[in-house]
Amino acid sequence: MLRIVIAVGACLLAASTAIAETPVERGNYLVNSIMACGNCHSPRDAEGKLIADKALSGGLAFNTPPFVATAPNITADKETGIGSWSDAEIKRALIEGARPDHGRLAGVPLAAIMPANFYKALLPEDLDAVVAYLRSVKPVRNQVPDPVYRAPVRRDPYPDADAGFSKAMLADPVKRGAYLVTIGHCMECHSAWSRGVSDFKGGLGGGGRVLPPREGTPEGTPGTVVPNITAHPTAGLGGWSDAEIIRAVTHGVARDGRPLKPPMAYGYYAGLKNSDQADIVAYLRTVPALP
Ligand code: HEC
Ligand code: HEC
Repeated sequence: MLRIVIAVGACLLAASTAIAETPVERGNYLVNSIMACGNCHSPRDAEGKLIADKALSGGLAFNTPPFVATAPNITADKETGIGSWSDAEIKRALIEGARPDHGRLAGVPLAAIMPANFYKALLPEDLDAVVAYLRSVKPVRNQVPDPVYRAPVRRDPYPDADAGFSKAMLADPVKRGAYLVTIGHCMECHSAWSRGVSDFKGGLGGGGRVLPPREGTPEGTPGTVVPNITAHPTAGLGGWSDAEIIRAVTHGVARDGRPLKPPMAYGYYAGLKNSDQADIVAYLRTVPALP
């Protein structure tokens, strides 16, 4: 009898250690799957392929009407990365878009392309996990060019992030999907956009925004029109099966088999756990249909 109890206990222990993630593991998962920080912050070669050993050391340059900014080095390098920032300072950058009061451009707000208006939704333990992971990233020396600001920073409020999430809410698969779609800032690209303002209320998931081609792509490359991912039966994902949506999100294959264009971050979303994929689909099914 005693032996059976011990055996059962050992099994339970094995199961719980398999499930429990350390903060660094959780942060690694978030940063390199749903949050896809490297989609902006990691450098790519001339063919657009990520340079693996330079991950997060500074990436895309954005040249937009309100600002010119390069996604900075967020490795643990002390001089050119964020190695000398405190945990609190990294958190403020993530959820408030604020720079520390020391170092490069002290106190100057970060351009709105850094999705702090979405990241403010992070549960405290997930925010801690992202910081723990960033601290563990191998330092790479790389100084990105300074930004140029042509207008004051303005982030469009994202209603789900402003309302916030709690751990209890995330027991519901649809809410968990909403949380993932928020911290994945999916709707930043996929919502209606005009004259520099996102419409997250009337145009949530409606698509139509045209994203400029990546810097360095040949002159004259057309921008990418972001598709409608609302539940609309023909214009959106309403007629797609769950498997078709998951294939698009994690493998970059459209319903008709066409490869999806960047900057859709399917290379990162490929690492999403099956349960998180299912929750994202459950939430997308609830996004009000837009034509
Ligand atoms: C859509 C592109 C994009 C994504 C996604 C993104 N960032 Fe950023 N981030 C930027 C840009 C661009 C800046 C610099 C803005 C500026 O210079 O005003 C920035 C700035 C930062 C800074 C401040 C660094 C410094 O030296 O000033 C930190 C820290 C940061 N990002 C961390 C992250 C993390 C962690 C993630 C993922 C959880 C992430 N970012 C996702 C574009 C992005
Ligand atoms: C940085 C911008 C960006 C982000 C963030 C983004 N997407 Fe996309 N998404 C795109 C673009 C661009 C395309 C495809 C363009 C093409 O090939 O026509 C796309 C395509 C898709 C498609 C295929 C739809 C169709 O009609 O073919 C789905 C589904 C999708 N995205 C869901 C998501 C989800 C879910 C997230 C968040 C986890 C997300 N996207 C985040 C830009 C983005």
